[in-house]
Amino acid sequence: MCGIVAYLGKKEAYPILIKGLERLEYRGYDSAGVALFNNGNLNLYKKQGKVANLVEFAKDKDTSGSLGIAHTRWATHGEPNDRNAHPHFSGNESIAIIHNGIIENYDVLKEELKKRGYVFKSDTDTEVLVHLIEDIQKSEGVKLSEAVRMALMNVTGAYAICVISKDDPNTLVAARKSSPLVVGIGRENDFYLASDATPIIEYTNKVVYLDDEEIAVVNLEKGLKIYSLQDEEKTPYVQELEMQLEALEKGGYEHFMLKEIHEQPRSINDCFRGRLNSVEGWVELGGIKEFEKKFTKAKRIVMVACGTSWHACLVGEYLFEDLARINVEVEYASEFRYRNPIIEEGDIVIAVSQSGETADTLAALELAKSKGAIILGICNVVGSSISRITHAGSYTHAGPEIGVASTKAFTAQVTVLTLMALSIAKKKGTISESKFRTMLAELEAIPAKVSEVLKTNDLIEKISAQYKDASNALYLGRGSSFPVALEGALKLKEISYIHAEGYPAAEMKHGPIALIDDEMPVFVVATEGPSYEKVVSNIQEVKARKGKIIAVVTEGDTQVREMADSVIEIPATDEHLVPLLATIPFQLLSYHIAVMRGCNVDQPRNLAKSVTVE
Ligand code: F6R
Repeated sequence: MCGIVAYLGKKEAYPILIKGLERLEYRGYDSAGVALFNNGNLNLYKKQGKVANLVEFAKDKDTSGSLGIAHTRWATHGEPNDRNAHPHFSGNESIAIIHNGIIENYDVLKEELKKRGYVFKSDTDTEVLVHLIEDIQKSEGVKLSEAVRMALMNVTGAYAICVISKDDPNTLVAARKSSPLVVGIGRENDFYLASDATPIIEYTNKVVYLDDEEIAVVNLEKGLKIYSLQDEEKTPYVQELEMQLEALEKGGYEHFMLKEIHEQPRSINDCFRGRLNSVEGWVELGGIKEFEKKFTKAKRIVMVACGTSWHACLVGEYLFEDLARINVEVEYASEFRYRNPIIEEGDIVIAVSQSGETADTLAALELAKSKGAIILGICNVVGSSISRITHAGSYTHAGPEIGVASTKAFTAQVTVLTLMALSIAKKKGTISESKFRTMLAELEAIPAKVSEVLKTNDLIEKISAQYKDASNALYLGRGSSFPVALEGALKLKEISYIHAEGYPAAEMKHGPIALIDDEMPVFVVATEGPSYEKVVSNIQEVKARKGKIIAVVTEGDTQVREMADSVIEIPATDEHLVPLLATIPFQLLSYHIAVMRGCNVDQPRNLAKSVTVE
């Protein structure tokens, strides 16, 4: 939520900053802005809307300079307009700031600053911080980094900030608490700062992920220094990035979402590569190995997540309960954190998050940790906050997901949860050797089967054309296909703005059936398995009310085909793995419907990818 990028070095900063903003645009696209130091001045340009608007606005302006900060905004405090766009200037316009996060005590600070004569030009919480920095510099006579540190001692809330001053053009000061910030150490004594590594990767693979309450002071002569909020110097921990530049490009696809849907054979394969062997009969997740014993003894697993990741957890619940016989509770992180939840000794709390930065998930984990739980993470973004506060965890290795709607992250999360459940089931002896081996072999076959499902794209495009003007849609599934129904509905509503609901198929008759008429599309997962006949009955109930049935069925199905208006076949697989296949037609369907409705597929309205505010 909000993307920040900054540069200090010898190169022209503007093109680096703009490219960086384009990479970070998935974090918010309400406005964009840049501040550049040149010839003793700070030039500030900002514009409502996307980065492209900023580029158009700045095209005939002076954009030179080798020190700059830039921001793409997801509005929290104050409307998305030019005035509230970042960067923000201090009162005397000598200091500029960019900020991702929320300053919670901004109103108290604002009143104090107003009394001291500061005039506010925006409605943002951020502007308070930059005035405060200026005020401290003036009253204490300290250098910029010290003023930033002292200002931060006075704020509560979340922040990733970068601050520059025209009085100290060799220095860039940055800090973080609960919002991510990465410092890239360039090859030419230059420095790149950003919310994630994507704007940095083409310049350097040497990065330092800032920890909470750390301040980075980057200086052209002294290099990178890191301090705690208490002013103790720390040794920067330099890591090597493994990300590939191609992963950040559309690679010939019209949208990132379509590319990411089509990447799933590879991303699922990357997710289990080296972690299982069906011939030798083993599965191993290195990241959680030391906690296996605790897992086998655990009476309860609590999974916390938001959105699509929460749906992956629901699939995980079926897997862990059925295979490993461990009681699982799946919690919305935002509810869990405010409910004084009961955590007992030996409870394991697993957070699932693509970004690893979701504020509610992070807070839920911190709460569980403070109550003595073992906390584990399943994240996609390497080095993310969740991956760093957990006791252990497993990365999904899906590669960068740029489309705001989550697709390949979901299937990778389900894959890791499957591996985890299988490995614990094996250790506990709650799965037979033959079932274990069959499931491993089935899992290894999933990428090829996903490729088969992707071949239904043209059929799905035709089906999409029939339902693109619907105002409502229902998604139904039973067992672990119920979360697939929820996920299908979420995908449709978030990118095409059609109202959609996911339901356990049998729940339909307890209310939603009243909605069904001859215009209502009902998308049903009706694959082979123990509940097949029951789902068939639910389909009959919809048909009797003239609803339109679009069913995802197992290859060769004839029964549902006779009843449904359209069927999409997926290859047969183990019932526990059906979500990995059945979710893909729904991703494609949402994609095509959104494109046909002229929606911005990769950047749907009001959304941002990394939700770093609660
Ligand atoms: C939906 C979507 C969101 C995220 C949710 C959690 O397509 O992307 O619902 O799943 O915001 O984000 P992460 O997984 O980053 O914690």
